Amino acid sequence: MGMMSLSSVMVMVMMIMLVQVVSSTQYKVGDLDSWGIPIDAKVYSKWPKSHSFKIGDSLLFLYPPSEDSMIQVTPSNFKSCNTKDPILYMNDGNSLFNLTQNGSFYFTSGHPGHCQKYQKLLVSVGTYSAEADALSPSSSSDADAPSYQNAFGSIPLSQKSSSTSLQFSTVVASLACAVIVGAIM
Ligand SMILES: *[C@@H]1O[C@H](CO)[C@@H](O)[C@H](O)[C@H]1NC(C)=O
Ligand SMILES: *[C@@H]1O[C@H](CO)[C@@H](O)[C@H](O)[C@H]1NC(C)=O
Repeated sequence: MGMMSLSSVMVMVMMIMLVQVVSSTQYKVGDLDSWGIPIDAKVYSKWPKSHSFKIGDSLLFLYPPSEDSMIQVTPSNFKSCNTKDPILYMNDGNSLFNLTQNGSFYFTSGHPGHCQKYQKLLVSVGTYSAEADALSPSSSSDADAPSYQNAFGSIPLSQKSSSTSLQFSTVVASLACAVIVGAIM
């Protein structure tokens, strides 16, 4: 009996140690239901400052496909509002961009004139200082373009603002441990 409860405790401890709940957040950019020319010019420059983005989070751009689009651009094109040769172009009206690595990501609209009207968004993941990079004169070179990443996702099933997922691999690891402990008994 004593052995039995001891191993039960061991299994429970292992489960607690191994099962990690990984939470990720899906942000509607600007906390707005529509990605478009902002009524308040500062909306998209202010919004990222009140959030801490991490790997695994995603950005959701919602807009009428006939009226707008989302493009990811280089820092220099972001500054100059050059919408030619974007890194990524999406116009499905429901564009999900997954943040899969640390760094800075520059977005604007592919529609003429929208960038100039402050429809532009700079998101920084991790400790990397996007602000400094965007404002630094040396960043106007395109030489670092290959380091930008353009992962994006399919149309999301739901539009809830956050989700929590259990990592499958850790669940499997926990079950394996439980089986091993069971076998030792
Ligand atoms: C991303 O940045 C965070 C915060 O600085 C850091 O903890 C993490 O290790 C970084 N991840 C990668 C893959 O560089
Ligand atoms: C982006 O994330 C969503 C879930 O948030 C996922 O369904 C999709 O496969 C991901 N896309 C990529 C390219 O990783």
